[in-house]
Amino acid sequence: MHLFKIVAAVAALASGTEAAVRQLPKPASCSGVANFRYQYKLESGWSAMKIAGGLKQVRTIVWDTEGNMLVSQNTRGISVHTFGDNGCINSTAMLISGNQINHGLSITPDGKTLYASSETTLWSWAYDPLTRKISNQKTIVRGMSTGIHSSRTVAVVPQQPNLVLLQVGSNSNFDMASQQPGTGRAIIKIFDASKAPSNGFNYNTEGEVYGYGLRNEIGFTADPNGVFWGVENSGDDFARTENGQRRDIHIDNPAEKLNNLGDPLTVRNAWYGYPTCFSVWNPANFPNSNLKTGSHFVVSPNSSYNDATCNGRAVPPRLTFQAHSAPIANTFDSDAKNMYVTFHGSWNRQPATGFKVVQIPFTKLPNGTYEPVAPADSMTGYKDIFSAPNPGSCTANGLTMSNCFRLTAAAWDPAGRGLFVGSDNSAEGEIYVLTPN
Ligand SMILES: *[C@@H]1O[C@H](CO)[C@@H](O)[C@H](O)[C@H]1NC(C)=O
Ligand SMILES: *[C@@H]1O[C@H](CO)[C@@H](O)[C@H](O)[C@H]1NC(C)=O
Ligand SMILES: *[C@@H]1O[C@H](CO)[C@@H](O)[C@H](O)[C@H]1NC(C)=O
Repeated sequence: MHLFKIVAAVAALASGTEAAVRQLPKPASCSGVANFRYQYKLESGWSAMKIAGGLKQVRTIVWDTEGNMLVSQNTRGISVHTFGDNGCINSTAMLISGNQINHGLSITPDGKTLYASSETTLWSWAYDPLTRKISNQKTIVRGMSTGIHSSRTVAVVPQQPNLVLLQVGSNSNFDMASQQPGTGRAIIKIFDASKAPSNGFNYNTEGEVYGYGLRNEIGFTADPNGVFWGVENSGDDFARTENGQRRDIHIDNPAEKLNNLGDPLTVRNAWYGYPTCFSVWNPANFPNSNLKTGSHFVVSPNSSYNDATCNGRAVPPRLTFQAHSAPIANTFDSDAKNMYVTFHGSWNRQPATGFKVVQIPFTKLPNGTYEPVAPADSMTGYKDIFSAPNPGSCTANGLTMSNCFRLTAAAWDPAGRGLFVGSDNSAEGEIYVLTPN
């Protein structure tokens, strides 16, 4: 069994879809695609173009083995897009129509099985990348909780593609019951799709626990070793109460997190701290403590449960982001020199923050593991590459309305055009391509 796993892992990673995909030029513009709907600012060394508009709330982008682009559009379904030799989209069709589809989308490395999620259910389909047709819909998991966080991220484990990771967030800001993994909230579980009963697994009672204490881990992606890295949306309206004194700390705390979730073939039941342990972004809000950026803290320390309790028990984040950035998706470039993360943007910060794509430089250590270059206590471990010109003035009326783009999907193009990024602003679903010069 163990040997089989290793052989399968090497085969899956070595056959990565990229080698087979025909390379395409990055077009300067595509006919029929309207201008960027919102203004943007680019870091030097990057260019941007809009490759698709008129979509509905783009949430997730994945690629099939032919280089076709599959897009999850919240409340519309899954579309598939082919490309002409000029690099522009030359055909678009709905693959799966249904207003329950709201976010999660993943494909096996052989391109033959698709997964997509609604708030409560994960389905699979057989898929043919040559005809772009689906068949044989199956329910893989059912009964996921509902609550304030409705997206359900799914990812196929590349080393063993019969396994899928499936995430559910908390059902409130402080979901105290989610301390128990049996609630099936603030958690990522692992299911063996090849063994799904005909009516699907029950999310809460079946499958295995990969990690929990994850408030809303919307994005996760595997590095070239198959180790998953997740981005976590942390809490709102925070105050810290010490010795009876309550101080508002919500502008710059708690941090959003980048977690090293480990190898899903070996890691089980890792606890990341929620709903009691949160990470510091700005240590200035914690005078008289030795907490640093990235350290865990509790909202109201007491004699039996304090910051040190967390820092001994919960897996700490490997890097953190400005509070309220709202990271949605993360992806590596083709040689994992950098991770890119989309920040959807805040509603709970004055002035607003987020509404950008950031780049996190990574390095490969001598023992072969991948790590961010910056240490865990860094506030400068990532940099903006594409952003709203003045994020502080971006409005956030509801989750998808704004006078700025609301960035979601992030997927590095196997055909070499750059980083594809989606927006789910309800005024127009758009996809942009960001290219390093
Ligand atoms: C799109 O372009 C590709 C590559 O040139 C071509 O094979 C395909 O037939 C085109 N599809 C449509 C619908 O024009
Ligand atoms: C101390 O804090 C923990 C974690 O927030 C909480 O569960 C516990 O009830 C608190 N104990 C007291 C005595 O307040
Ligand atoms: C690789 O090296 C780093 C840095 O020394 C260490 O923290 C990590 O645990 C090592 N990983 C493995 C799998 O040996």
